[in-house]
Amino acid sequence: MYSPNAYRFLHFIETLESDKKPEKRVLDCGAGGPRPPLALFHLMGYETHGIDIAEAQVNRAYDFSDKYGIDLNIRIGDMRALDFVDESFSCVYSQNSIFHLTKSDTAKAMMEMKRVLAQGGLLYVNFLSIEDQGYREGREVGSGEWESMEYGEVTIHSFYEDSEPDKYFEDVEILVKEKRIMDLRTYNHKMVTIEYIARRP
Ligand SMILES: C[S@@+](CC[C@H](N)C(=O)[O-])C[C@H]1O[C@@H](n2cnc3c(N)ncnc32)[C@H](O)[C@@H]1O
Repeated sequence: MYSPNAYRFLHFIETLESDKKPEKRVLDCGAGGPRPPLALFHLMGYETHGIDIAEAQVNRAYDFSDKYGIDLNIRIGDMRALDFVDESFSCVYSQNSIFHLTKSDTAKAMMEMKRVLAQGGLLYVNFLSIEDQGYREGREVGSGEWESMEYGEVTIHSFYEDSEPDKYFEDVEILVKEKRIMDLRTYNHKMVTIEYIARRP
């Protein structure tokens, strides 16, 4: 398993006082891929739900689930229009995914993630920093929005200045905000993200 973001979020929850700990029911937005972060939540006893817009990514997550004999409950869905009722999750998690949306779609996805988050629930989400090595790669399609080829497909990357994503958190309480630098040697890439954990009042 390789999901330091999920480890950090789960560790943060474990260190909370018991009356502040959320229920163990999580939704992951952008949950697919060969190493689904929800596996860690499953190991920690969470009821897991995940959505991903790409069928191929959902299938990769299923291959993982089949291999390890666990059901992570991941299906096709779009974080810009979540098919869940208001306040239905105590934790909403999104790792390395929201920055594949344009900034206007990111605003929609953030509204949706906060809508399905229960009162007192916790939200984890990370954004790409303009310090990321991939900044300015490809074609600029909007302010800080760059289109490039990734694994043979046209992909959007939205990059943010340090305080820029704060606007998505005005109606929730920011508990953690950290810049993360990861040296991804396999890909020869220095990844720089701005990571948030927030609580819905
Ligand atoms: C870089 S992958 C990260 C996958 C996983 N979160 C991880 O960290 O291993 C980004 C994921 O976001 C998904 N994604 C992109 N736009 C989405 C949307 N609008 N709704 C849901 N998932 C989306 C992609 O299909 C892809 O699986």
